[in-house]
Amino acid sequence: MAVLMGGLSAEREVSLVSGRECAKALRAAGYRVTEVDCGPDLPARLADLRPDVCFNALHGRWGEDGCVQGMLEWLKLPYTHSGVLASALAMDKVKTKEVYRAAGLPVVDSVLASREAVEAGHVLAPPYVVKPYNEGSSVGVYIVREGSNAPRLAETMPDVVMVEAYAPGRELTTTVMGDRALGVTDIITDGWYDYEAKYAPGGSRHECPANIPAEIEAACLDYALRAHRALGCRGVSRTDFRWDESRGLAGLILLETNTQPGMTPTSLAPEQAAMQGIGFPEFCAWMVEDASC
Ligand code: DAL
Ligand code: MG
Repeated sequence: MAVLMGGLSAEREVSLVSGRECAKALRAAGYRVTEVDCGPDLPARLADLRPDVCFNALHGRWGEDGCVQGMLEWLKLPYTHSGVLASALAMDKVKTKEVYRAAGLPVVDSVLASREAVEAGHVLAPPYVVKPYNEGSSVGVYIVREGSNAPRLAETMPDVVMVEAYAPGRELTTTVMGDRALGVTDIITDGWYDYEAKYAPGGSRHECPANIPAEIEAACLDYALRAHRALGCRGVSRTDFRWDESRGLAGLILLETNTQPGMTPTSLAPEQAAMQGIGFPEFCAWMVEDASC
């Protein structure tokens, strides 16, 4: 099989780590593995290699948004994780919310705004969050607090960005594997769960299972499964939440669904699988068996 990793997105480095971990695990599970660092020659390489399965370990644009999935459909190569439509919907945080809302799932308000508008003044009443609507791993996320000025955005930010009401509270996450939700993790950080906290060893502490009321745990499991189905995801996905405990169940909202959840040594989905007694090689092998096109 081919493990697709790297790619062209801002999450390239994360994907290389995910990909290498998965390749190692799949070899341990008995598969013959070719590691493919994905560049512009990917279609030609895959047409030549013709693997039985492509294990998609890409994150972010082009790898998680339906582009690679469309190419794999075209080549008739079975691949892991979600297909074209679910990938495209979930990568766009604005469209994701429309799907969540239609499925009766709770979200906070957000708008799309030009970078000029965002820099000219507050688009929403602070506190709010400015982020690309189509990146992962907290790349390019600005938190604008009460009393602070409108943010100046980095050159690398797109012309249109998402501005979202700040949802206070704890950061919870739930992985879905096929038709089951694996558990709830509470992510505990000193500041907030940014790129550094996500991937530096010791950058955050994961409490898995989360020490939360049974009602909130049940809601996370239910919402994550419903989000997975509403978006039309396949295989493994991971839905991220914020929970303002002072408001009980009403304080739980969905942030997004990741169709290519991280598979690095500090990542959340493999931890939740392990908590269910599913080791990393077994987790990866399940995805391979689940692959299709
Ligand atoms: N976007 C990263 C890889 C994640 O969701 O785990
Ligand atoms: Mg994400």
